[in-house]
Order: sequence, then C-alpha cells, then structure tokens
Amino acid sequence: MKILGIEHIGIAVKDIANDAPFWRHILNISHRSTEVVADQGVTTDIYDTGQGKVELLEATGPDTPIGKYLEKRGPGVHHVCFEVDNITEAIKELKESNIQVLSDKPTVGAEGFKVVFIHPKSTGGVLVELAEKP
Ligand code: CO
Repeated sequence: MKILGIEHIGIAVKDIANDAPFWRHILNISHRSTEVVADQGVTTDIYDTGQGKVELLEATGPDTPIGKYLEKRGPGVHHVCFEVDNITEAIKELKESNIQVLSDKPTVGAEGFKVVFIHPKSTGGVLVELAEKP
C-alpha cells in the first residue's frame, strides 16, 4: 500500500450552516461540494486547501454514525483520511497485519472515492479513513 497524502480531515458538526462560515469566510478555503452520502447517513460539506481538504460532517439523523458520535462526544475532529493508490490492496495488507478494518470491501464515499475505515483500537485512538480517487 502506498499513502499518497492526507486527503481530508473529517469534522463532526451539529449544523453545517452554523459552522461552515468559519472555514469558508474566515479561513477563506475554497468550497468544493456539498453532498449527502445516504448510506453513511451524513451530509458532507467539503473545502479544499489545495493540499488536503476539510470535510464537515452533519448527521442526517440521530441514529447514524455521526449522530451517535455527536451524542457521545460532541462536535470536533472525527477522522483523518489518507489517500491510497489501491484500496483493495490496502485492505488486504491491513488484514494480514491484524489491523481492524471496519469492512472487507471499500464503500463509495463523498466525491465517488472508494473508502474504508480503520478502527481506532488499531491506530492509537484515531479513526483513520483510507480513500482511493475515483
Ligand atoms: Co472522510
């Protein structure tokens, strides 16, 4: 597996409309897209620095991964995503190293990226996402 860089930092927010202006207008990072990823129960609002993105994550309901996270921990950094050259190969290599990957196959995330998450138990407490560009 080859890590190509930090793709984005995922930040759990209660309300995109309330929190986006900081990223968009105060830091002045260019807005890239806003997209509902239905099977993850999340609305993503993405800003691109040109060298790594910021992805704001708002739950579509309380009974979703981000909804539960917000209930338990409140808003803040949720995960760090690294771009990989080949996600299928990465999953295979991680499993061979007994790293706890949250699914056997990648799912399609925001912007059509193929993604997989690694359990924080295997990473020292950080939810890590791997993503392969479509
Ligand atoms: Co992400």
